[in-house]
Amino acid sequence: MTKQSIIAIDGPAASGKSTLAFLLAKKLGYLYFDTGLMYRAITWQALHKEVDVSNESEVTKLANETVIEVLPSSVEDGRPCDVIIEEQDITWEIKKPVVEGSVSVVAAYPGVRAALTAQQRRIGLRGNVVMVGRDIGTVVLPDADLKIYLDASAEERARRRFSEMQSRGESADYAQILAKVIERDQIDSNREVAPLKPASDAVVINSSEMDIDAVLNFVLGLLK
Ligand code: DC
Repeated sequence: MTKQSIIAIDGPAASGKSTLAFLLAKKLGYLYFDTGLMYRAITWQALHKEVDVSNESEVTKLANETVIEVLPSSVEDGRPCDVIIEEQDITWEIKKPVVEGSVSVVAAYPGVRAALTAQQRRIGLRGNVVMVGRDIGTVVLPDADLKIYLDASAEERARRRFSEMQSRGESADYAQILAKVIERDQIDSNREVAPLKPASDAVVINSSEMDIDAVLNFVLGLLK
C-alpha cells in the first residue's frame, strides 16, 4: 500500500459510496468521514427547532451555531458512527424520510455549505482519511491523493435503497424511492454552489453491475 493519505469519494445518492468508503477506511486504518450526515444533521435540527427549511437565512444561522458531534459508534446496531446534537443521539433520525425530503434544499444553501465545508476541510487535511460526499474531490479536498466518483443507474440505486429499508424493517415503495432518487440527483447536480459532478482527475466507476466487493477490490488495486 502506498501513501494515499487523503481519499475523496463522491457520487449520487445510494451509489454505494458510503459502504465503499467505510470498508476502505477499515482496511487502511483510516478515519471514515461521511459529510452527507452533516447536511442531514442540520436539516434534522431545523425540523426539530421548527425552523422553516425554506428560510435560507435562519437555516444558515443554525448551520453556523450547531455543533455536530461525530463519534465512534457506541451501539452495535449497524451504525458506522454516532451522530450527536445537543446530547441527543440522532444517528438513525437523520436517515428518515422526513429528513431526506428536505436535505437537498438545505444542502443547496451557500452559507450552509460554507459552514460545513470549513469543518470538513479541517478534518480532511489531517490526513489518513476517507471522506465521502458530493463535492469532496471538487471543492472540499481538491488536492486529495485519490479521487473516486462512484456512479450507478438511478434504478439500481433505488433498488439498493429499497432493500436497505426492507432489511431495517421499514415500509418501502420502490416507485416512490426511485422518484425521490431522481429528484435528489436533479437538485444536487443543478445547484449553483458545489454541484454534484466528478472532479476532472477522478476515477469514475459505474457500479450498476458490480457488487461492493468488486468495487472495493478495484479501488484497492488503484492504491497499489
Ligand atoms: O450522501 P447523503 O445521501 O447522506 O447526502 C445527503 C444530502 O446532502 C444530499 O442531498 C446531498 C447533500 N450533500 C452535499 O450536498 N454535499 C456533500 N458533501 C454531502 C452531501
